[in-house]
Amino acid sequence: MSPVSKASAGSAGRKDYRALPVDRIGGTLEVPGDKSISHRALMLGAIAEGETRVRGFLESEDCVATRRAFEALGVRIVDEPDGTLRIEGVGPAGLSAAAGPLDLGNSGTAIRLMTGLLAPQPFDSVLTGDASLRQRPMERVAAPLRAMGARIRTRDGKAPIEISGGAKLAGIDYAQPVASAQVKSALLLAALYASGTTVVRSPGPSRDHTERMLRSMGARLETEEGGLTVALTGPQTLQGGRIDVPGDLSSAAFFIVAGCLGAADGLLIRNVGVNPTRNGILTILSAMGARIEIRNPRTFGAEPVADLFVERSELVGLDVPPELVPLAIDEFPILFVAAAGARGRTIVRGADELRHKESDRLAVMAEGLAALGAKVEEREAGLIIEGGRLRGGEVDSRGDHRVAMSFSVASLLSDGPIVIRNTDAVATSFPSFLEAAAACGMAVTER
Ligand code: S3P
Repeated sequence: MSPVSKASAGSAGRKDYRALPVDRIGGTLEVPGDKSISHRALMLGAIAEGETRVRGFLESEDCVATRRAFEALGVRIVDEPDGTLRIEGVGPAGLSAAAGPLDLGNSGTAIRLMTGLLAPQPFDSVLTGDASLRQRPMERVAAPLRAMGARIRTRDGKAPIEISGGAKLAGIDYAQPVASAQVKSALLLAALYASGTTVVRSPGPSRDHTERMLRSMGARLETEEGGLTVALTGPQTLQGGRIDVPGDLSSAAFFIVAGCLGAADGLLIRNVGVNPTRNGILTILSAMGARIEIRNPRTFGAEPVADLFVERSELVGLDVPPELVPLAIDEFPILFVAAAGARGRTIVRGADELRHKESDRLAVMAEGLAALGAKVEEREAGLIIEGGRLRGGEVDSRGDHRVAMSFSVASLLSDGPIVIRNTDAVATSFPSFLEAAAACGMAVTER
C-alpha cells in the first residue's frame, strides 16, 4: 500500500491501544520534527529557485502525503544518506499539472495551504483527503481566495476542492473572523503570485511559521501590531536554502503532561520548538502549577527551540483565559487530561474551533473522559472539568491522533487499564509514539 493511501486509511481505525497505569516515568527523549513546519518546508522548497535541504523533516503519514502531492506536481524530492530531505525547487512557474486528484490524507494544513498555492497556477487541480478531512470546512480558505480572483469550487463547503487554473490573482485586504494560521498562510502563498499587496488581519495571534520561513527564503513581508497584520506584495520569488525543523511542541505536549503526572525525578525533552505564537501549552500548564523548566533556549534555523525539563507537579484547575486558546489550539485534548488530574475545576471557553479539527475535540474528549469516570460538562464552546482520578475503561479516539495519544497519557491518572480504540491516525503525526512512551516508562501497547 502506498503511503498516500495509508494516510487515507488512518481514520478508518483498525488498531487499538492498551495503556496500563504506571507509578512513575522519567528519562530523556526527543520528539520527531514539527508537522506544521515540515509541511511548509515542502511547499516553499518546491516553488523556490534552487535546492532546499531540510533537516529534521517529520516522516509521518500527513507529511509523506504532502511530499507525494508535490512529486505528482513534478517536484523531485530526495532522501539523502545523512537523513536530510533534498527538494529540487522548480521555481514559481515550474509546477506542472498532476495526473489525478491530490490526496492530502488527514491534513487540514496541507489541503488549505496547497489550495492557496495552487489557485494561481496555470493548470487545474483537485485536492482531497480521507473521510475525516472531507468533513472539515474549506470555505474559510476558498472564499478569500475567490476574492483574490481564484476559481475554486468546494462540495458543500468541503473537499474535494476543484481549482480551475489560469486565474490572475490580485491582492486583497482580508480581515479573518477567526485567527487561523492555515487561512493566513494560504493567502500568503497565493500572494506570492498575485499582483499588488495582500494584507491579512487576524483578531489574535496564530502560529507564524510561514512568515518566518518566507523571510528566511528571501521574501519581503511587513508585519504590524505584533504580527496581527501581515502584508506581502507580489509577485515574489523564493530562494532555496537550508531549513531546520525543531521537535514538534504538539508532540512533546503529551510527554510534558505525562511528566507533570508521573516524572518523580524529572523528564527531559530535548530540542523542542517553543515559538511564542504556539507555546500556549507551557503558559497554561505553568498557571496550573506545572513544574516546567525551559533549558538552553536557542534558535534552530528560523525558530526558537529549547530543552524542557518537567517534574511531577500538583496541578490545580484553571479558568483558561480565552486569548490563550489559539496559542494552544492543538493541545486541548492533552490539556483536558491534565485538567482531569488537577485539583479543582478547569474551565475552557472560546474554543469552538476545536469542533472543526481532526474530530470534534470537545465532544470526543468529553465522551472519553466521562467514560473514564471524570466529571465533565460539555458547553457549546468549551468544557468544564472537575479534576480527580480516573478509572480504567474503554474510549474511542474517533480516528483523531491527538485524542488517541491524550488518552494514553490518561493512564497515568487512572486506577485501571484504558483501552483506546481506533488509533491508526497516530501515524499521521507521531509514528514513533509507542516507542517514545516506552522509553520514558509508560506502558502503552498496541493490541
Ligand atoms: C496549523 C494551524 C492550526 C492547527 C493545525 C496546524 C498550521 O489550524 O490547528 O493543526 O500548520 O498552520 P488553524 O490555523 O485552522 O487554527
